[in-house]
Amino acid sequence: MMKQRSPWQRTHTCGELTIEHRNQAVVLNGWIENHRHHGQLVFLDLRDRYGVTQIVVDQDQAGMAAGTFDVVRRLGAEDVIAVTGTVRPRDADKVNKNRSTGEIELVATSVTVLGEAETPPFEILDKAEANEELRMQYRYLDLRRRPLQEAMIKRARFVTAIRQFLHHNRFLDIETPILTKSTPEGARDYLVPSRVHPGKFFALPQSPQIFKQLCMVAGLDRYYQIARCFRDEDLRADRQPEFTQIDLEMSFVEEHDVLDVVEAMFVHGMKEGFGIDVPQPFPRFDFQEAMEKYGCDKPDLRFGMTLVDCTALATKSDFKVFSGAVAAGGIVKGICAEGAAEKFSRKGIDELTAFVNQLGAKGLAWAKVTAAGLEGSIAKFYEGDKGKELIAHLGGKPGDLLLFVADQKRVVHKALGDLRLKVGGMLGLRDPKVFRCCWVLNFPMFEWNDEKARWQFAHNPFSAPVNWDIQDFGVDTESIRSRAYDFVMNGWELGSGSIRIHKPALQAKVFEFLGIPAELQRANFGFLLDAYRYGGPPHGGIALGVDRIVTLALGREGIRDVIAFPKTATAYDLMADAPGGVSAEQMAELQILSTAKKPG
Ligand code: AMO
Ligand code: AMP
Repeated sequence: MMKQRSPWQRTHTCGELTIEHRNQAVVLNGWIENHRHHGQLVFLDLRDRYGVTQIVVDQDQAGMAAGTFDVVRRLGAEDVIAVTGTVRPRDADKVNKNRSTGEIELVATSVTVLGEAETPPFEILDKAEANEELRMQYRYLDLRRRPLQEAMIKRARFVTAIRQFLHHNRFLDIETPILTKSTPEGARDYLVPSRVHPGKFFALPQSPQIFKQLCMVAGLDRYYQIARCFRDEDLRADRQPEFTQIDLEMSFVEEHDVLDVVEAMFVHGMKEGFGIDVPQPFPRFDFQEAMEKYGCDKPDLRFGMTLVDCTALATKSDFKVFSGAVAAGGIVKGICAEGAAEKFSRKGIDELTAFVNQLGAKGLAWAKVTAAGLEGSIAKFYEGDKGKELIAHLGGKPGDLLLFVADQKRVVHKALGDLRLKVGGMLGLRDPKVFRCCWVLNFPMFEWNDEKARWQFAHNPFSAPVNWDIQDFGVDTESIRSRAYDFVMNGWELGSGSIRIHKPALQAKVFEFLGIPAELQRANFGFLLDAYRYGGPPHGGIALGVDRIVTLALGREGIRDVIAFPKTATAYDLMADAPGGVSAEQMAELQILSTAKKPG
């Protein structure tokens, strides 16, 4: 059957016509991006998702439909129109090489308005000029801008590639509930009151964690979901209250099985979605090693400048700052900034010192490497062979800048780890177009919460300890490692996962250690604990943040730039005006009273 097409409907998109289509009669639909009037000639740029095509309307054009020129005269930016016309090659000097359609123009014979546009509150420009609040309020207009269209298109391509990969690798796409019970991922829950069960609330899932584990108990073997997660937490550039995970879980696996499949999946997705080749294999660091070398658990591998322990050499000199720190149980570490000696003046180094001071370090010792030895704040303590030894230890050569921090280990790692990133950035070593991934394994199982004065889980309470047979989590808690791993790219945590506890007794023991009493365990996780009593397979998985991946791949500032309808930094939807008040009737029906000072 011939496809029916109304006369106004497009035959081609605005990104499609080339010299191959010369002399063809076509119809385009789209938005007016630009209109330039030159007497009897009017030039329009017509835009849709696929591109922009130049339209020429000539009053004297033969075959022009009656009234067309009057229509054209009244057109304004963002009107939606249909144009019928003939494709004409442009003169050689008029060819626009920056556009796929730049070799041609469409000579119109009729123009119809399909949707009139009022003057938009801001101009639709590639580079946003209007403030972000206004653009978020009119997000559907902001989404017309090319960078946002590109983000939506590539994000969809990426997610589709991931789906295909997982499908080919025997993963089942399984939906888990949105109206559910609290899933502990460390944030506050979004709650939904139940009308049918007055006084009771659903929680929106912080992640599908518990359900994907139950899928493993159910024997589904390999689960995945492009899952929306909801977390009421303080927002930053890399966080939104609702966001999307590539969530997966696998049965009968060890860490390397999960890491291998995710690595292959990620490389495939980056290539298909963004045309980016990510070098493999991804290095795998033990948590401890990452901390020692990079001062943090999410190493940026786009450059070296790793932290080198100089404690032993530090004690060989008379430099009191070093020996004093070591005597107090601390350490001394240094980094070598290649070729940076000339790039930092005294003032520059003072700024770096102020930077580490803010991070809790008492100061920054430094020296420039010259052909003769060292020059700078610590040079006089490291003359002759001592200096040479220190330079060799850090792998320095003339022209390099050495930077040291002496303090307790935690302070040294924080200060020098962040300084490494700062100096790396200043030296142009953190190219946003370069992508380097790694894995960090064996995270601590628990971390101390100063505020609450108790231990809390570091990843989630379901991660298995490295030692299955552990009897008492209260002994040397800090050094207990879990089988949790992070996936990191360019210094961003993109994913987290673990091998899970699949034995109910061990799970109960962890809950107990976390201070969750038996009744609460039953109330919150009874169904999970029960499930494992009926044959739980060893299993593990991971979740990757889609929004963060797309943001990095496209070199955008924050995840808001790659989400169609994001919320503001105060978790508000400026366009829909949400959250909003509800009527007294609705509140009554839900049997809810608000104690807010200004309800609704
Ligand atoms: P986790 O809480 O570490 O693990 O989350 C996994 C990944 O999700 C992304 N992410 C976010 N992205 C945007 N906004 C947020 N507020 C936000 N929070 C997290 C990050 C992060 O690495 N259930 C476990 C996974 C598992 O163990 O399998 C979980 O959710 O990229
Ligand atoms: P001072 O002896 O305090 O004048 O410090 C001499 C140099 O050592 C200065 O460059 C200080 O910034 C630096 N410094 C001071 N404390 C530390 C520290 N804990 N670690 C590294 N350098 C330090």
